[in-house]
Amino acid sequence: MSGHQNIPPRGHFITFEGPEGAGKSTQIAWLRQDLEAQGITCLCTREPGGTAFAEEMRRLLKHWQNPDEPVLPLSELLLLAAARAQHVETVIRPALLAGKTVLCDRFSDSTFAYQGAGRKLPEELLRTVDAAAVGDCIPDLTLLLDLPVEVGFARAGSRAATAGNYDRFEEEDRAFHEAVRAAFLARAAAEPARFRVIDAAVSPEAVRQQIREAVHERFA
Ligand code: TMP
Repeated sequence: MSGHQNIPPRGHFITFEGPEGAGKSTQIAWLRQDLEAQGITCLCTREPGGTAFAEEMRRLLKHWQNPDEPVLPLSELLLLAAARAQHVETVIRPALLAGKTVLCDRFSDSTFAYQGAGRKLPEELLRTVDAAAVGDCIPDLTLLLDLPVEVGFARAGSRAATAGNYDRFEEEDRAFHEAVRAAFLARAAAEPARFRVIDAAVSPEAVRQQIREAVHERFA
């Protein structure tokens, strides 16, 4: 009974997952507005990244382009995990302990989807490496913004054309992105208490409404 009295109050940890083009950044900004209007202090962050050091790793992970030296899947995994370890210990955990609600654009589920289903690294390896980076910082709620691959392609494609920026992940073919989507959905089905699957193919306002309901239902 009294064991719980020693555990300090902790903010909620909410992660957003899904493909490029699902509208995660917009939805994170809107959820922050909604929560702060209720007096809940939020910290918005992203992976890979979220600290100065981890943002450097993000740049390498997304934009490294050298045909003479392609990035190995294992190197990719370890760099993502290094970025996550740094982010968890210096940003996420302190914010949660300070009572803030953390809204994070991607987290461990992206590793299982992209490096597992996409790059075909063994799940046991992913679990070991991810656990070392994350420790007990497990999301309380994961919103999976689900989208058919072709819709995500169309949205991300027009964004990339505007930005004119090579992206190693967006370069991958349809089979890769189908495998990523299937892996996200399988993880959501396996952990229904943590996940809510949001239909992201509808208008941004309609996505916002689904997210409001999911967050309210989870934390009410
Ligand atoms: P984004 O934040 O613009 O979506 O870019 C991040 C990219 O990094 C995205 O294509 C997915 C990829 N990624 C992984 O492959 N594994 C991971 O664990 C994370 C966090 C991201």
